[in-house]
Amino acid sequence: MRMTVNDVTIGYTDEGRGVPLLFVHGFPLSRGAWQKQIDALRSSYRVIALDLRGFGESQAGSVPVTMARYADDLHALLQQLATGPVVLIGHSMGGYVSLAFLRQYPKMVCGLVLVGTKAAKDTVKAAAARRATAENVPAKGVQEVIETMAPKMLAADNHDRAMAEQVRGLMTPSKPAGVIGALLGMAERPDATTELARISVPTLVITGADDTLIPSTESEKLAQAIPGSQLNIIPHAGHLVAFEQPDKFNHVLEEWMDRAAFTIPVST
Ligand code: MLT
Repeated sequence: MRMTVNDVTIGYTDEGRGVPLLFVHGFPLSRGAWQKQIDALRSSYRVIALDLRGFGESQAGSVPVTMARYADDLHALLQQLATGPVVLIGHSMGGYVSLAFLRQYPKMVCGLVLVGTKAAKDTVKAAAARRATAENVPAKGVQEVIETMAPKMLAADNHDRAMAEQVRGLMTPSKPAGVIGALLGMAERPDATTELARISVPTLVITGADDTLIPSTESEKLAQAIPGSQLNIIPHAGHLVAFEQPDKFNHVLEEWMDRAAFTIPVST
């Protein structure tokens, strides 16, 4: 489905009924990264996933795209869908966006799931590397970024070539302005570390044991800092843990949802 939020038209999925779950993908992916969750959970929950601006079916706007801007898009989407508070599930860059959303719209979050992500901002070196990558995109296109990122998404010992191709397919529709905007936005994102202790909604932290892009130690730090949070490190999974090990991931998520006993929140 398509909807105009703020100044762009975005692609999104909204299926099922019940407690709303909002899935936010990482860089440079698209909402198809969550298809195995959407398929498994739509019979029990309302599952919503969007393509962030500049990715998947969504138009790109101006650059940079700050995490705050993505969070505004999420909010505009939820307002139009009239969901009320959601369980917010963010992977990697989607986790940075989720922490920004929580900062900006705390009343719209009733639960938080942080997947293969971290709270720390970029080091000076990492931010400079992102800006250099962004500068090359107009000349070299997004393909070079995809070729760099795609091999880092799955566990090193995962030799499933069909799955690796599917991962590339999730990245292919990324627009140059989307990739540049995200790179520059991530480079300037604020550090969220000191905010973690104030998170008061039920929180689940999940990561792949073999994630080399954002190592599981980052998830351990998140779980230690967020009061009452639950940490699950899923074996035989790399950065894209929900796509690579969907059954294990969905099991952890559903058990946690059951324990948290979310009810359909009243719209605010
Ligand atoms: C992602 O998967 O969203 C990115 O690897 C995050 C990052 O580069 O920091």
